[in-house]
Amino acid sequence: MILLTQKLCMLRDIGIHGNLFGGTMISWIDEAAATYAAQICHTPNMVTVKIEEVVFQKAVKAGQQIKIYAKVEKVGNTSIALSVEARRYNVYSTEESVVCSTRIVFVRIDEVGEAVPIPQLVKDRYRNE
Ligand SMILES: CC(C)(COP(=O)(O)OP(=O)(O)OC[C@H]1O[C@@H](n2cnc3c(N)ncnc32)[C@H](O)[C@@H]1OP(=O)(O)O)[C@@H](O)C(=O)NCCC(=O)NCCS
Repeated sequence: MILLTQKLCMLRDIGIHGNLFGGTMISWIDEAAATYAAQICHTPNMVTVKIEEVVFQKAVKAGQQIKIYAKVEKVGNTSIALSVEARRYNVYSTEESVVCSTRIVFVRIDEVGEAVPIPQLVKDRYRNE
């Protein structure tokens, strides 16, 4: 997996149970993964078609650092699937522990929003991932 971005859980991100709000985490993951998918497919025109099961394994508290990682799982004709992990980073020990994971599918679209093929070069590169 490669590191996409790092986030700091702020007080404004906390929900009513004292943990990072789940929707905020999903938004971080979606944004990080979408930019990665766009870079891989050499186009800004990528939309999220599916966010698969999202598992919140551990609570995130204010002040904690989160690193978001991804890996290309599959490149289809017009879609690309990424597995994504958000890991809590301990600045004292440098240990990382997965707090949230999911799989996201993006589709390349044209100017009217129709699915269009991902370049062959990209398919060839990730064929065996
Ligand atoms: C993404 C979108 C263009 C796909 O349209 P569509 O009519 O389903 O297109 P297709 O049937 O040709 O499918 C296109 C690709 O999406 C994949 N796909 C469609 N629905 C899917 C689903 N529920 N789960 C996983 N993949 C899906 C297909 O497998 C296909 O992949 P492939 O070409 O690699 O085999 C359309 O669903 C859409 O515009 N959705 C809204 C996107 C959006 O607004 N996202 C939030 C903001 S980014």
